[in-house]
Amino acid sequence: MSQDIDFDRYDRVRPIRWTGDALELLDQRKLPFQVEYVRCEDSDAVADAIRALTVRGAPAIGISAAWGVVLAARGVDAADGAEAASKLEPAMQRLNAARPTAVNLAWALARMRRALDGSGSDWRERLEREAQNIADEDLAANRHMGALGAALIAPGSGVMTHCNTGSLATAGFGTALGVIRAGVALGLIGKVYAGETRPWLQGARLTSWELQQDGIAPTLVADAAAAHLMKGGAVQWVIVGADRICANGDTANKIGTYQLAIAARHHGAKFMVVAPSSTVDMDTPSGDGIEIEERDPGEMFAIGGVRTAAPDIEAWNPVFDVTPHALIDAIVTEKGVIERPDAAAMRAAFGH
Ligand code: MRU
Repeated sequence: MSQDIDFDRYDRVRPIRWTGDALELLDQRKLPFQVEYVRCEDSDAVADAIRALTVRGAPAIGISAAWGVVLAARGVDAADGAEAASKLEPAMQRLNAARPTAVNLAWALARMRRALDGSGSDWRERLEREAQNIADEDLAANRHMGALGAALIAPGSGVMTHCNTGSLATAGFGTALGVIRAGVALGLIGKVYAGETRPWLQGARLTSWELQQDGIAPTLVADAAAAHLMKGGAVQWVIVGADRICANGDTANKIGTYQLAIAARHHGAKFMVVAPSSTVDMDTPSGDGIEIEERDPGEMFAIGGVRTAAPDIEAWNPVFDVTPHALIDAIVTEKGVIERPDAAAMRAAFGH
């Protein structure tokens, strides 16, 4: 089926550019009103960009961190990979601490550490090659998942997505948004609904803009409209990404995902999680073990710099939640589709 999809036609945005001496990140805080790249010349600038959501989305922060290690290597003098590894460790720790929930960050740094294994003075080249491999493999995985996920969608379906899981969140094409792109390319999807995704508005600002670049016109809905929309029968599949998928299939994703899964089950819509295997964490048995990032409550007080909340109010701002595996109909990775995921099905797919 993937041969029927014109991937380049449906995939124009690139959030991460390696120039050979710096990392350029499309500033996602300013989209869709300004299209501007921020130039990072050292690894701490990359860590800051990840923390500030200049770059965001689980695969994209892993890829950026890998390039951050390449930048950190510039300041290191080492005869071999082992010496380089110990000198690079503090920078890797700072990159890893930038955000806690998406496992792709630690996964990418582990790959960069492994690239330093073995003797030889060519450790800089090995690091640069590995960062490029991580990015290239992500794009290939997304295209493959697009075809696998689209194969589950019946013609004429309405789909709903949450947050931004597209090219902006990955090396390109996207995960859940990749499945939606593939479904649209194959003529299977009648309508795409994008939830606003308060408080940071990834759906309203990023998904809407990104799909518009491809000539796909999503319908924006308030997060609070989802159950009402599903009740009317407009949604056959809710399709979301993931920041971490545990050994039993429990999945952390953007806050609001859990309530979408509950509403989908109640109204007979199916629920699909799409993520590369770099998002699978077989070392965490269930969602109870995932650290959920809580961000500055100030993110909830204003939209576009204009205050919308009463003065002196308290707020709680968890930015991810966990969807229990029992509410998930299919997990799609580049390794295949896991229907009705549980610990046994995850073990069969990923070992451990
Ligand atoms: O806070 P964000 O914008 O980084 O959260 C992103 C999400 O929750 C995405 O759904 C997830 O990272 C998958 S992106 C392919």
